[in-house]
Amino acid sequence: MHVFVSGGTGLIGSAVVAELLGNGHTVLALARSEASALAAEAAGAETLRGSLADLDTLRAGAAQADGVIHLAFANDFSSADALAQAVAEESAAIAALGEELVGSDRPFVTVSGTPYVPGRVSTEADPVPTAGPVGGRGRAVTAALGLASRGRDSTAVRLPRTVHNEGNGGFAGMLTQIARRTSVSGYPGDGAQRWPAVHALDAAVLFRLALELAPAGTAWHAVADEGDAVRDIAAVIGRRLGLPVESVPEETYGPLGPIFAIDQPASSARTREALGWEPAHPSLLKDLENIEP
Ligand SMILES: NC(=O)c1ccc[n+]([C@@H]2O[C@H](COP(=O)([O-])OP(=O)(O)OC[C@H]3O[C@@H](n4cnc5c(N)ncnc54)[C@H](OP(=O)(O)O)[C@@H]3O)[C@@H](O)[C@H]2O)c1
Repeated sequence: MHVFVSGGTGLIGSAVVAELLGNGHTVLALARSEASALAAEAAGAETLRGSLADLDTLRAGAAQADGVIHLAFANDFSSADALAQAVAEESAAIAALGEELVGSDRPFVTVSGTPYVPGRVSTEADPVPTAGPVGGRGRAVTAALGLASRGRDSTAVRLPRTVHNEGNGGFAGMLTQIARRTSVSGYPGDGAQRWPAVHALDAAVLFRLALELAPAGTAWHAVADEGDAVRDIAAVIGRRLGLPVESVPEETYGPLGPIFAIDQPASSARTREALGWEPAHPSLLKDLENIEP
């Protein structure tokens, strides 16, 4: 398949591009800068210059592809306004890509997050949250999946809180960055809340399987570790950086504070069984040992 990929130069997207190219597909990567275009071309992709805000470019990319994987997101958590703007930009992009594919059997794989359900491990059958600071992302993906009834072959890969590679990435990566800045390896509350995780190279395999195999309107969990207690994550980070490990106020994490405080383990039993996906790369706690002081 010739696959149009947004976010193909990111932590996860670069793994997805390599996974696609290694399995007989070709890639057209959205690139918003010269540096991103060079990186995507060095990886073996063709490039289409433009950003998520260039809806005509997104439609043109989708029009010339056999399938689309959307991963790009501004990932700006610096303030509630910045996050809302990133969510709005992505929502418009998903709608534009989706409309371009309506009525075709070309697959559209979007990125989503694993849901949290009070008192139990979430599964693929649970809906994603559509309220809260990133609720708009849930609404955009839910709308995309709903359009399966209009003949669009859309699926969602739901990612856990940390998608990591070489100790970097996701919520655990943010804890590391904050620890470096504040000289404390912190966690909110008592740190007993659990976050699920996956290695980026394992997540990339699931994006390919969703593209190739998943029925329209379905959502899948790229979860390798069901849930690590956040204080255990902070403990490895603190040991690697030689810093004290302590509970810190939720506000330390800005708009993500309330999400950081939630116990949110997630299962991938159905994904493994239905798509034959089996994670093979190091767990989060092992991968964090790659952090350099
Ligand atoms: N990493 C995680 O733990 C995790 C967990 C859950 C969900 N996710 C989601 O997974 C997706 C990929 O995450 P990631 O960790 O790979 O992110 P990342 O490393 O920050 O990469 C983001 C990618 O999006 C591109 N991008 C950002 N804003 C763009 C814009 N306005 N126009 C065009 N391209 C743009 C970037 O391009 P440049 O090369 O030009 O910067 C880069 O390729 C995101 O939707 C993220 O929210 C990630």
